[in-house]
Amino acid sequence: MASTKLILSEINDGVALLRINRPKALNALNSPLMHELMDLLETLDTDKSVGTVVLTGDERAFAAGADINEMADASSTDMLLRGHISPYDRIQKISKPVIAAVSGWCLGGGNELAMSCDMIVASETAKFGQPEIKLGVIPGAGGTQRLTKAVGKVVAMEMVLNDRTLDAEEALAYGLVNRVVPVERYLEEALELAKSIAARAPLATRMGKEAINRSFETHLSDGIAEERQSFYFLFSSEDQKEGMRAFSEKRKPKWKGK
Ligand code: CAA
Repeated sequence: MASTKLILSEINDGVALLRINRPKALNALNSPLMHELMDLLETLDTDKSVGTVVLTGDERAFAAGADINEMADASSTDMLLRGHISPYDRIQKISKPVIAAVSGWCLGGGNELAMSCDMIVASETAKFGQPEIKLGVIPGAGGTQRLTKAVGKVVAMEMVLNDRTLDAEEALAYGLVNRVVPVERYLEEALELAKSIAARAPLATRMGKEAINRSFETHLSDGIAEERQSFYFLFSSEDQKEGMRAFSEKRKPKWKGK
C-alpha cells in the first residue's frame, strides 16, 4: 500500500499501521491530511489482508488538534462549504477495528479523532484535552458528545469549559483509554492488541463492533434486538461452523471470513 507524505502506512501480520506525519506542527490535522487518512482507512477496510488498523502519531503528539492556521480566518460559510468536519464522519463507517496508539498531546480534533477509534492504548506521557475554549470555540468533531459518554458529564464540563487536561492515568480512571503503558511500549502494545484481534473470526469481529457502536445510538431493546439478529445471522457463516467444530475437536479454528 502506498504511503502518502502526510500519513505513513505499512501492513504486517494482518495489521495496518498508519502514522500521522506532521511532526513539526505536532501532527495538527489539516484538511489534506484528514482526507488522505480517511481515503487510506476506506481502502484498508476492503483489503482482505488487513484485519485491524492502528492509528498513531509520534512520541511527542498523537495530534495537537485541527490545524488552527487553516481555519483562523475562515467564516462560518467557509467552514460549512469546506465541510471542515466531514472527514470525521468517514471514520465512523469503517467496519474493521481501529486502535489509537496515543503518546504526548492528544488535543481538540486530535482527541476527537482518537475517540472516533474503537480503542485507545496510551503511553504514560499522553495528555488528553479539548482546549477549543481558549480559541473562542467549542469542540466541533463530536468532542462534547463522545467525551461526555466516555468520561461523564462533570469531567467533560471541566475539559470543554475550562481546558482541563487529563494525564494518562486520569484518562484510564475515567474510562477514556483501555490501558496505559511506558512510552517505549505504547506502539508495540497497540500492535499486539491489533494483531490479536486481527487473528479472530472476521465476520464476528465486524458484527461485534457494529453492535457495540449501535448501543450509543439506539434504545436498549432495539439494540438487543439488532444484536440478536446479528448473532443468528452468524450461524449462516462457515466460520461459526468451523469455530464450534474446532472447539469440540480441541484444535485452533481456521477462519475464512465467510
Ligand atoms: N494547529 C496548527 N499548528 C499547531 C497546532 C495546531 N493545533 N498545535 C501546535 N502547532 C504548531 C505550533 O504552531 C508550532 O509551530 P511553529 O514551530 O511553526 O511555531 C509547533 O506546532 C510546535 O508547537 P509549540 O511550539 O506550541 O509547542 P509547545 O510544546 O510549546 O506547546 C501545545 C504544545 C500546548 C500542544 C501547543 O502547541 C498548543 O496549545 N497547540 C494548540 C492546541 C489546540 O488548541 N488544539 C485545538 C485546535 S482546534 C480544534 O481541534 C477544533 C476541532 O474540534 C476540530
